[in-house]
Amino acid sequence: MRSQARDIVPPNGRDRVSRSMSSNRGGLSTSPSLSMHSPAATFSQLRRMSTALKQLKPFNSKEIKILLLENVNVSGREILEKEGYQVEALKSSLPEDQLIEKIRDVHVIGIRSKTKLTERVLREAKNLYVIGCFCIGTNQVDLKFAAQAGIAVFNSPFSNSRSVAELVIAEIIALARQLGDRSNELHQGTWNKVSAGCWEIRGKTLGIVGYGHIGSQLSVLSEAFGMSVIYYDVQNLMALGTARQVGSLEELLRQADFVTLHVPELPETKNLIGAEQLAQMKTGSYLINNARGSVVDIPALIEAMRSNKIAGAALDVFPNEPGGNGDYFNNELNAWAEDLRSLKNIILTPHIGGSTEEAQSAIGIEVSSALTHFINQGTTLGAVNMPEVNLRSLTLDEPNHVRVIYIHHNVPGVLRKVNAILGDHNVDKQMTDSRGEVAYLMADIRDVKEDQIRDLWAELEGLSSCIRTRVLY
Ligand SMILES: NC(=O)c1ccc[n+]([C@@H]2O[C@H](COP(=O)([O-])OP(=O)(O)OC[C@H]3O[C@@H](n4cnc5c(N)ncnc54)[C@H](O)[C@@H]3O)[C@@H](O)[C@H]2O)c1
Repeated sequence: MRSQARDIVPPNGRDRVSRSMSSNRGGLSTSPSLSMHSPAATFSQLRRMSTALKQLKPFNSKEIKILLLENVNVSGREILEKEGYQVEALKSSLPEDQLIEKIRDVHVIGIRSKTKLTERVLREAKNLYVIGCFCIGTNQVDLKFAAQAGIAVFNSPFSNSRSVAELVIAEIIALARQLGDRSNELHQGTWNKVSAGCWEIRGKTLGIVGYGHIGSQLSVLSEAFGMSVIYYDVQNLMALGTARQVGSLEELLRQADFVTLHVPELPETKNLIGAEQLAQMKTGSYLINNARGSVVDIPALIEAMRSNKIAGAALDVFPNEPGGNGDYFNNELNAWAEDLRSLKNIILTPHIGGSTEEAQSAIGIEVSSALTHFINQGTTLGAVNMPEVNLRSLTLDEPNHVRVIYIHHNVPGVLRKVNAILGDHNVDKQMTDSRGEVAYLMADIRDVKEDQIRDLWAELEGLSSCIRTRVLY
């Protein structure tokens, strides 16, 4: 269920501060983890590092036109501009009709979560061959239609893992010390100095459910606070530090003082924590959910908190979330919202786990680098709707080589026909993979004269299996 959204305009002062922090690199230092999680160098930097790499370009379009919508982070825009692409960046999304007008002209579009790239829009995007979602989710794009039209889609699923892990650390301490309640009371003018039911986190047991990108980061951070870490995951995963994997969710719930959830949204994880699991948790323990709203049965949590079984909770995600900012967190959105709001020692946040300047910057770098690799090299590593295909780069020692990319319907007999066309040349390397109804072939062929390229392209385009052919030289 979605309510109509409107933006909350921040007070002028705060707005100025956050802008200056994002535009002034000298302002705040970036996260130390940033360089580890994001591609450290742009494609052009890599090219400079290794002068032997050959700069490929499409034979049939002189310039690459890119449209960036929704105020994509400057880190991403700069990478694309440095590549020499023609970039138009707009601050907002566009209404569908304007979007259709604009998208007809561009080869690449970069969006965040508000722009809907539906089948109707994509049908008009005759020149488009790649979409960058500068965010985590991709459900704003018709991925299947895009793949069938030969349009690859990239996103950035893990750039904000550190931000989420840090938020959980803050929440563990805030819950153990009832910080939210004390702060709210003092905001109302009430001085309420208490120590009963307030704890240090040193020596307590943290139970992490889902030991992936976020869960494992959190494991390391929480040990630095002197916590003992146990985790439960459906996979056998190597423990970091002195953390210990346990054999079942129940085992974790019975031992942990703090339980934090970091699993994906799947049919198996729906209501993973319900009345039965809450009953298995220690009396006076805490529950944190920064994963997805469907993972916790919230009415059961409300009951468990009312009966003092659970001493506190932090929720960043909810089954229904509004489409934008405003006073929407009420029973119209989720039937139990007002009961939840009335509880003590519960931290409620509007899905901000990954919302930091560092994460936005890392997303910009990661998505733009994936786009650049796709445009310049044809590699699809990290694509969400196409098979992942990669070939070693061509070098300057291979001046007459061209790279052929053939996106096609996954039907029998295609390779025979394609290789009959490529077969006049020596095929140095070739890779093909399929995902559902779409297959992706990349081949580097040698001794191709410039005037042969168009014929090669035309022959491949003429095959009935063809979705799109690109030739880079
Ligand atoms: N609050 C936010 O703003 C925010 C930001 C980023 C990610 N997230 C969410 O956090 C969650 C975790 O993200 P991640 O990047 O660490 O994901 P990940 O894919 O790296 O890790 C998920 C882990 O959960 C495990 N898992 C899957 N099903 C399980 C089950 N039934 N029981 C136990 N373990 C199970 C997987 O094996 C994997 O190790 C996701 O739901 C993601 O959508 C939220």
